[in-house]
Amino acid sequence: MFCDPSTDNKRRKQVYIKTYGCQMNEHDSERMYGLLLNSGFKQALREEDADLLLINSCSIREKAEQKAFSSLGRLKALKAKKPQLRIGFGGCIAQREGKKIIRRAPYVDLIFGTKNIHRLPLLVEKMYKMCKRQARVVEICHDDAVCPEQFRCPVERAGQFKGWVTIMQGCNNYCTYCVVPYVRGREWSRPPEDIEAEIRQMADQGYKEVTLLGQNVNSYGQAEGYEVNFPTLLRAIEKISGIERIRFTTSNPKDFSAELVEAIADSSKVCEHIHLPFQSGSDKILKSMNRKYTQSEYLKKVEILRNKIPGAALTSDVIVGFPGEKEEDFQQTLHLIEKVRFDGLFTFLYSIRPQTAAGNFSDQVPTNIKQERFEIMLQMQNEISSERNKALLGTRQEVLVEKVIAGKDKFGSNNKLRGRTRLNKIVEFIGPPELLGTLQEAEIIRANRFNLEGALISERD
Ligand code: SAH
Ligand code: SF4
Ligand code: F3S
Repeated sequence: MFCDPSTDNKRRKQVYIKTYGCQMNEHDSERMYGLLLNSGFKQALREEDADLLLINSCSIREKAEQKAFSSLGRLKALKAKKPQLRIGFGGCIAQREGKKIIRRAPYVDLIFGTKNIHRLPLLVEKMYKMCKRQARVVEICHDDAVCPEQFRCPVERAGQFKGWVTIMQGCNNYCTYCVVPYVRGREWSRPPEDIEAEIRQMADQGYKEVTLLGQNVNSYGQAEGYEVNFPTLLRAIEKISGIERIRFTTSNPKDFSAELVEAIADSSKVCEHIHLPFQSGSDKILKSMNRKYTQSEYLKKVEILRNKIPGAALTSDVIVGFPGEKEEDFQQTLHLIEKVRFDGLFTFLYSIRPQTAAGNFSDQVPTNIKQERFEIMLQMQNEISSERNKALLGTRQEVLVEKVIAGKDKFGSNNKLRGRTRLNKIVEFIGPPELLGTLQEAEIIRANRFNLEGALISERD
């Protein structure tokens, strides 16, 4: 044990982690908790209770950075009131900025990168020693060789029934707008036997659903030359008993193959929801983004998917206002949205990121035009999302019950429960709290834009 906070204080020290960004960061925070709880810390339920407060930051857009920095800024006042509070800053901004963060926030005690997570107990111990001398600990590793170690640490999962499993990390694609390759390093895939062992352990602990994580899961194992590729990995995970649902994110369309569609279609566990970011409908912009597919290639892949799995739900990411985007390019994006009719879209205004190629492109789009296009696109998608949900009215959907959201008072002896369908739609229905963590059938009786309401059909064992 590297650090035992209970020895320098009568009670166990409490740690709280504020997480920004994607599922990778959420899952990194679960590993940070795992390591620190194993080293003697207790998880604080509220920020105010923490002795050690960590920010796990995201750098994907300027707004995400602002959020992390303003959260850090608020901690200055907290530390002034509570001088024993220790503050750590990690994640993707930390990886990029390193010790420069000290200039902005001199009250930070610890700065650590995305490849230093496994060293957290050691760094925290060092920080507690150094703090007595008013010094800080900064450790940013850029060496991809440490990747395997990141996954040998304990994980304190936030959920009881569904959980994330990293299958790969980093990215080699260098889309010209994206900071990820600079903050997460080169692609590295975990050995298949490690992934399967982790999922088997989760099944033993009662987990029903796993989401496989990677910046581009479709290129799983390619850099390492594994015999197992992503579709064969899915087929292997399918065999793990106890696990009832498998999801994955994210798929890059350029590597989304017919073989993968086959594997999903053949599986009873892989859910029929695919997140397939298209980013733009314009071939000119896609080229300039370095995405390596055209609109018609994207549409062809969607067609293959829908032919094989007709009811599949599709969601996507799209960026408006990429440098050089003219009205006709934007119209192509709207065209693609209308053609595909996504179940949901994550829509982003292009944001200049340091180190990225597009940051230096000359024809940046003015903010007011970006905003106008954004509103038009959002309105179009909102209508489509409502219609896609309405199409589910009267159907029966399998729901993994994840939460009791309202107590008995209003609903007699029953509670209001919330879960997700295989299509990843949120459904709420009335039922007994014992159903938590089970798979149930619900008939959809009301469809809203962002969620569904259901009626429990009959309780499944
Ligand atoms: N690996 C994933 C994407 C991870 S980033 C993939 O390739 O699909 C999540 C989303 O953020 C991206 O899909 C993109 O839509 C958006 N994004 C990334 N960089 C951005 C930027 N500079 N400005 C605006 N949106 C951005
Ligand atoms: Fe970023 Fe592109 Fe890699 Fe996704 S594939 S993480 S958008 S560089
Ligand atoms: Fe953000 Fe880092 Fe994820 S930049 S989107 S937290 S990989």
